[in-house]
Amino acid sequence: MDKQLRKVVIAGNWKMNKTPAQTTALINEIKPLVKDAKCDVVVCVPYIDLFAALEATKGTNIKVGAENCHWAKSGAFTGEISADMLKACGVPYVVIGHSERRTYFGDTDVTVRDRTRAALDAGLTVILCVGEYLEQRQQNITMEVVRQQVKIALNGVSEQELDNIIIAYEPVWAIGTGLTATAQQANEVNKGIRDLICELYGKTAADKTVVQYGGSMNAANAQELLKQPDVDGGLIGGASLKAADFAAIVAAASK
Ligand code: 13P
Repeated sequence: MDKQLRKVVIAGNWKMNKTPAQTTALINEIKPLVKDAKCDVVVCVPYIDLFAALEATKGTNIKVGAENCHWAKSGAFTGEISADMLKACGVPYVVIGHSERRTYFGDTDVTVRDRTRAALDAGLTVILCVGEYLEQRQQNITMEVVRQQVKIALNGVSEQELDNIIIAYEPVWAIGTGLTATAQQANEVNKGIRDLICELYGKTAADKTVVQYGGSMNAANAQELLKQPDVDGGLIGGASLKAADFAAIVAAASK
């Protein structure tokens, strides 16, 4: 599989952090530091910060994403936001299936599939998150778990639609813990995901699909992770909230 065929995507996942004013300030700090990036740069921000992020990134190489979307087009779903609404606001990316959504808010493989479907139908690019819990890794079922998550999420997704899906492998035990998967562990699962895409869609699709790693990626470990043949970028939590750290990861990806 040829890494040159794929772009590298570094995406920040801000989670539940930053007000609109803080969003503008952080993006203004990031902007000059990443302007020469040789990879795609995305910041995924809370819904309430989307307009500030869109405004602050105008005319730059930074793209904006939301952190979730609902599966219905509209309706009686208090507190939710639809994919069509995001599209209408000019938001191009959306994170779906993050482990925090799965763990704390009841997202399942099936609702992740439905949200993915809605996002693709709306014309959004999906960052689809998958990953195992520590107990699952200890039981040696990581690949089964991840394959099931990917397979269900992609159920009904055409090869053409797959162009609008980035898969982010995020081992749950590495998220926000400071414990990073080794470069070898990350690459092993990312390669397993690519092999699955090859089984489902063929080699051309597998060669093109961007598979990121996420979980305590930071300025110090990014380069080692990103140089792995099947790691095509990162989904960054904590380190994406500090302009210099996020920019250092973008620089590592631009090498
Ligand atoms: P951390 O980088 O803070 O571990 O978070 C990773 C993550 O969950 C990105 O979606």
